[in-house]
Amino acid sequence: MSLEVRGLTKRFVGLVAVDDVSFTVEPDEIVGIIGPNGSGKTTLLSMMAGLLTPTSGRVLWKGREVQRLRPDIIAGQGVVKTFQNPQVFAELSVFENVQVASHLKLKRELGLRRALEIVGAARDVERRLAERVAEVLALCNLGGASRQLAGNLSYGEEKMLGIAMALMCEPELLLLDEPATGLGRDEIRNLEAVLDKVHAAGTTLCLVDHKIGFLRGLAGRVIALNYGQKIAEGPPERVLNEPAVIEAYLGAGHARA
Ligand SMILES: Nc1ncnc2c1ncn2[C@@H]1O[C@H](COP(=O)(O)OP(=O)(O)OP(=O)(O)O)[C@@H](O)[C@H]1O
Ligand SMILES: [Mg+2]
Repeated sequence: MSLEVRGLTKRFVGLVAVDDVSFTVEPDEIVGIIGPNGSGKTTLLSMMAGLLTPTSGRVLWKGREVQRLRPDIIAGQGVVKTFQNPQVFAELSVFENVQVASHLKLKRELGLRRALEIVGAARDVERRLAERVAEVLALCNLGGASRQLAGNLSYGEEKMLGIAMALMCEPELLLLDEPATGLGRDEIRNLEAVLDKVHAAGTTLCLVDHKIGFLRGLAGRVIALNYGQKIAEGPPERVLNEPAVIEAYLGAGHARA
């Protein structure tokens, strides 16, 4: 078992954002999480990545409790989350942004770098880092934009850069918060192709999105939230046809995409 969420609950003042939610994400799966605005999707992903501490409940990664660990420690153990809105340095190039994001993976190697500096071999570490950045940019179809300033990217490219930065941490489980939101049709197709490649390269994915058509194409299993509670779970076609799910979306004024 890869990741297990047990009875996870987050209370904010005046509301329960996530209410006693349990599910598992197995290695190599692509799991989708849907739900209307405010249903608790981001809060749930944030607790899975250690960015928020649950009020109660547990998050187990490979059988060990991680819900009280710092996000960088959890990322170092293989669970990494992207942000709903990309967090990039506009004044740095695409390449430099991805380079900066390598600090977690390289923590160990930076220790090594210091040792190598002493023996005069630090350039080898630099070269390996640059190779890894180029690999990740190619995986994300961003190789051509490598030297551009991040501030000059389209919104779709900026979101893709966020994914590239997360991939530098070499996640085993990548949590994606609304990767397709705000993207045009071609950008969504590109995103699907990139996520297919990332998954094929061995990364388990758990995605939150409103674009149900996009999730239906990718996810093997879908979990639906409403008012913080899990209201359905199963194969996409079955979940999307459950009356409680249709009701939740219609009730929130959402059209099914
Ligand atoms: N830090 C916070 N303090 C208080 N309330 C919060 C906080 N973060 C989220 N909430 C509330 O918790 C509920 C769940 O929010 P969350 O962002 O997880 O929903 P979501 O499903 O990701 O929504 P969206 O689809 O709009 O991204 C909402 O009612 C939100 O207003
Ligand atoms: Mg959200």
